[in-house]
Amino acid sequence: MLGNFTYENPTRLHFGENSLEFLKEELAHYGQTVMLSYGGGSIKRTGLYDQIVAILKEAGKTIVEDPGVMPNPTVEKLYEGCKLARENNVDLILAVGGGSVCDYAKGVAASAWLDGDPWQTYYVEGNDPATDLRILPVGCVLTMVGTGSEMNGGSVISNHTQNLKLGKVFDSRLMPKFTILNPKLTFTVPQYQMVAGIFDIMSHLLEQYCSNEDDNTSDYLNEGLMRSLIHSSRIAVKNPQDYEARSNIMWTATWALNTLLKQGKRQDWMVHMIGHAIGVVTNATHGMTLASVSIPYYKYIMHSGLHQFVRFAKNVWNVRSEGKTDEEIALEGLASMEAWMREIGVTMKASELGVTPDNIETIADATVLGGGFMQLTREDVVEILKRAL
Ligand code: NZQ
Ligand code: ZN
Repeated sequence: MLGNFTYENPTRLHFGENSLEFLKEELAHYGQTVMLSYGGGSIKRTGLYDQIVAILKEAGKTIVEDPGVMPNPTVEKLYEGCKLARENNVDLILAVGGGSVCDYAKGVAASAWLDGDPWQTYYVEGNDPATDLRILPVGCVLTMVGTGSEMNGGSVISNHTQNLKLGKVFDSRLMPKFTILNPKLTFTVPQYQMVAGIFDIMSHLLEQYCSNEDDNTSDYLNEGLMRSLIHSSRIAVKNPQDYEARSNIMWTATWALNTLLKQGKRQDWMVHMIGHAIGVVTNATHGMTLASVSIPYYKYIMHSGLHQFVRFAKNVWNVRSEGKTDEEIALEGLASMEAWMREIGVTMKASELGVTPDNIETIADATVLGGGFMQLTREDVVEILKRAL
């Protein structure tokens, strides 16, 4: 651990099939008016909406309804939520849904009382909220696993007019105050979304793993989480109702992106930057955008961080090293990852998500450049996208 850092994570987690029981006592810490933010209707179909409303009423709260948070939430929805929160002077935002609802809730929490444009202030310029700004508390009931939004300060918003999907990682003031993690609530997630979420977790792990030369505790923790994810995902795709597998995946997702693993690491994040650019152009599912570019991307950068790809092959995929060159070992590791991706059923081709030779340049323009082992140029992004088609 050669880096210097300050670590803090204030989110309280309630985990398990009885965890919704803790909602009422959490609500007691906040004022009268609760903005109930949710997505396109899955919580109404599953009956969770009725359960939450009953708990809110029992706690004597006034409910401000905020439905319709779409996957890949838009800046227009963010503005709408800010107006609603301010006009009703809400005391708590309760986000019930997946990463999109949680991300959106954090955006509203930071922006409802902001003078100025939150898109420009936070997402484009990357500023932090002023110390004297009123920030609304956020609580989450998670229904879809993958993003880690339940225990981090991340908030990703899409602006289709500007052709940009940008993430702001807020400080600990915007991390959810509490999150309810009940694995059973994820049983109704469609298989496509479940698998996309599983790959999102893998991507978060790998993108923190792919940087630095030093011997780092984060890498050992990371390998353990990757092994657990691979194991449980194989069970979950065959039997999505397997509680043990789904609960392990839920817990892995939270620890994959709750700010622990990144300490002391430079990190990579180029798969996410390209994935977000694909997302704003095609509106494809987040995890699938990542899956579609991952193998071409990692083959492209492999020689810049060969030692880590060798380690990944041996420690995560049990590749035997005797009589092989480092390059052969690393490639065997990536081949094992590719076989696992095909086994769980993620999208392997960007063309299946709407990426075409004609929009590759637009996607490259929308990609925020950076990297871990290798700093990517726009031309590198174009080349990776061509290989991903
Ligand atoms: O809108 P509803 O009707 O609720 O349906 C949702 C949505 O269509 C459905 N769903 C969720 N829970 C369900 C369910 N359907 C049935 N039963 C349930 N229990 O699933 C669909 C996808 O939901 P969404 O919230 O969009 O998915 P996800 O959790 O993958 O979130 C994606 C967003 O998070 C951002 C992504 O960019 C994307 O905008 N990310 C946030 C991050 C963070 N905060 O740190 C990091 C990630 O890398 C990611 O960028
Ligand atoms: Zn992600």
